[in-house]
Amino acid sequence: MRYQDIDWDTMWLESRAHKSWKKKKSSDWDQRAAGFAERNLDSPFVAQFMAHLQTEPDWTVLDVGCGPGTLAIPLAGQVRQVTALDYSAAMLGELDKRAKIAGLQNITTVQASWTDDWQALKIPRHEVAIASRSLSVDDLKGALRKLNAWASKAVYVVDRVGAGPFDPDLFAAIGRDFAPGPDYIFTLNILYTLGIQARVDFISLDSRRTYTSREEALQSYRWMVDDLTAVEEERLAAYVDARLNQTVNGSWQLARQTPPRWALIWWRTDG
Ligand SMILES: C[S@@+](CC[C@H](N)C(=O)[O-])C[C@H]1O[C@@H](n2cnc3c(N)ncnc32)[C@H](O)[C@@H]1O
Repeated sequence: MRYQDIDWDTMWLESRAHKSWKKKKSSDWDQRAAGFAERNLDSPFVAQFMAHLQTEPDWTVLDVGCGPGTLAIPLAGQVRQVTALDYSAAMLGELDKRAKIAGLQNITTVQASWTDDWQALKIPRHEVAIASRSLSVDDLKGALRKLNAWASKAVYVVDRVGAGPFDPDLFAAIGRDFAPGPDYIFTLNILYTLGIQARVDFISLDSRRTYTSREEALQSYRWMVDDLTAVEEERLAAYVDARLNQTVNGSWQLARQTPPRWALIWWRTDG
């Protein structure tokens, strides 16, 4: 077989069709917004991402699937203007709240989806386009083309490595098979087929995660599994409880065996 005979799009679709988790809707993200903001806004992920990003103070950045502003908020302190796009109203609400507290006035929020007509929404081309942990789309090639077209200097994409945020041991504990679906290697190869030779760096997170309560930890683990049965719910709680410890300051720490790992894929669009 030759490399050019590999149909990455079809392989991506097939791998996606067999993944263990369902694509989330905007209402799912609405429900998760407050907890996600709590856990992610000062996560070590932010510092690792920002360390790789190259921007100039007079640049503008488009952040697609911005969530509660995990990156849009620190970025707004570094560049002229940030457009933060997300289809979840609650995520944008979290972002607005935090931008206000930080006194940031250079973030424009847009409630829209990957598949909306960004031209009709009058979203201009920015110097940099970002999609961090938000590439949950049905047409990956189309989304990558879109990001490329909306950035005059560079694009930064954060994609899953293997299981990404999912904990494979949880699936084993509740008695389900786990198929993570396509990860960054498909994205990288699809970019190659588009004539884009991207660079890759990796962001590795700690195996311990902090929660404000046991319930928050349980909620975060329930998010990984669709249509939990009563028996699975019991097993999930037992799995979480066995790994959860309360710290001296009252928060809860959960240690998992497979820490989340992310690929930071980036390329310049100005040649
Ligand atoms: C895991 S969060 C990532 C947030 C942030 N970029 C980060 O790295 O922390 C995924 C975000 O993508 C958004 N999202 C998912 N699918 C989307 C779509 N089709 N259009 C717009 N936003 C989407 C969700 O609402 C959510 O806020």
